[in-house]
Amino acid sequence: MKKLIAPSLLSADFANLQKDVEMVNNSQADWIHFDVMDGSFVPNISFGLPVLKAVKKYATKPIDVHLMIVNPEKYLEAFQEAGANSISVHIEACPHLHRNIQQIKKLNCLAGVAVNPHTPVSQLEDIIEDLDFVNLMTVNPGFGGQSLIENSYKKIKQLREMADKRGKDLLIEVDGGVTLENYQKLFEAGVNIFVAGNTVFGAPDPIATIAEMKKH
Ligand code: DX5
Ligand code: ZN
Repeated sequence: MKKLIAPSLLSADFANLQKDVEMVNNSQADWIHFDVMDGSFVPNISFGLPVLKAVKKYATKPIDVHLMIVNPEKYLEAFQEAGANSISVHIEACPHLHRNIQQIKKLNCLAGVAVNPHTPVSQLEDIIEDLDFVNLMTVNPGFGGQSLIENSYKKIKQLREMADKRGKDLLIEVDGGVTLENYQKLFEAGVNIFVAGNTVFGAPDPIATIAEMKKH
């Protein structure tokens, strides 16, 4: 099964982003995860378009933009222009999710839906066929360094079954609390994309940590 590692820049050194982006370039990571928070959809503010543009100048890997914002449809084009290769929007923030997914695809980005811990994966029944990936939040969005919510394993398995039943080659991303202790169990449950902030950037040797997650 496909396995991608996506270090989250939320845990990088913001005063030295170029250095951390170059570390990711030189590692076995597959994507760079870029968390946008608006202080409204989530109780925190991170970074946005100008920072993405700056990161894009140095990044040699695809940038996965996770929009934790209200009205994400207003900014899809701007994020693509700033450098996004994949974009996930929250199901909880999108009354017109189907339209928004088509908008992301039209921009030639991979289209994903992010799902908060309390949102059942059954809510994806009528959109799953249109998605490239689902970003299953394994913590409540807004902050790095939290612990993975145990109920997530059940959701991953349900979602994988839902995709398999349709013969759909869906990428499942997990975001939040991914560690060297749990990534294997997550992989076995059906995860493809491993977002890791604290585990990578808090490690004494981030490159070796990424290699370890990639290995088995
Ligand atoms: C949380 C963000 C995550 C965050 C994960 O709202 O969406 O991408 O960076 O951080 P860790 O891996 O430290 O839990
Ligand atoms: Zn994220």
